Amino acid sequence: MTELPFKDLQRASQEITERYRMGKSLSTEDQKKAYVVVRMPATSAVIRRVLREIKEPVETVLDLGAGPGSAIEPLLEHFPMIKKITLMERDRTFIEMGKTLFLKEEVDWLEGDLTLQQTFDSHDLLLISYAVAEMSEGQISRLVPLLWKAAKKFLVIIEPGTPGGFARVKKIREQLISLGGQCLAPCPHSNRCPMEGSDWCHFSERIERSSLHRGAKLGTLGYEDEKFSYLIVAKNPFASSQMRILRPPMKRSGHISFHVCTSEGIKIQTISRKDKEKYVLAKKLDWGDDL
Ligand SMILES: C[S@@+](CC[C@H](N)C(=O)[O-])C[C@H]1O[C@@H](n2cnc3c(N)ncnc32)[C@H](O)[C@@H]1O
Repeated sequence: MTELPFKDLQRASQEITERYRMGKSLSTEDQKKAYVVVRMPATSAVIRRVLREIKEPVETVLDLGAGPGSAIEPLLEHFPMIKKITLMERDRTFIEMGKTLFLKEEVDWLEGDLTLQQTFDSHDLLLISYAVAEMSEGQISRLVPLLWKAAKKFLVIIEPGTPGGFARVKKIREQLISLGGQCLAPCPHSNRCPMEGSDWCHFSERIERSSLHRGAKLGTLGYEDEKFSYLIVAKNPFASSQMRILRPPMKRSGHISFHVCTSEGIKIQTISRKDKEKYVLAKKLDWGDDL
């Protein structure tokens, strides 16, 4: 992979932002190289955060719309027992980049268009991260049952934490529940999603920025907060959490209030300082955690 001069990196990162805003895929090699610098650290960090919700071992993974392999390191870290990672991607440039970036990792790359597949091989976990946005509604609803069929344990969907990203996740959630799926996270239940109106369910992951990243995105902060929406659906029964924290906790002098999703809908849950044990635990909790 040849290096990209800094000016071209800046231009290509602006093009990435523009293209994603218009719902378009990346088109030039420069944009794909810039993706590795300006987007991949954030998408990898989000994948790492989402995988933390899975406590069961996973041995085989199929990553769909894998890009340059953003999921490889998070998967190897979270599932040290993993035996096989297969990545499907339609873009040959991304595949070549991925093979260069992850030269030592033993993974299989498949070149293919997800929307043209009639079936997928079975794997413990199927992951589709930041890729659904590049498909039409019809393509997504045709793809979902195929993914569900191939997932032996879990299906994980990650999208940008925008109203549009959440709307896609919510629709996929309904489809998966109708197919018998059980929501593992973030939803503490598989009832109808109570998030309605102008609000959207999303979370945030803080990512340290390298100086190259700061320069490329013309940013000054040493970090960025990557907003994401996601869904993990499980095939088999599990002990589910009761409440998911949907916003940054509101810490007051004598109590902490949490905006939470529960099987009875969205509620405010307050924990008083007087309830010592719970309060000590609650102080450590953050947006996105279980309560
Ligand atoms: C925004 S990138 C995400 C890459 C990676 N999953 C990540 O989280 O960083 C979207 C990727 O999905 C791929 N993609 C989109 N539609 C696809 C399709 N129909 N078949 C295969 N790959 C697809 C694109 O080529 C691109 O590499």
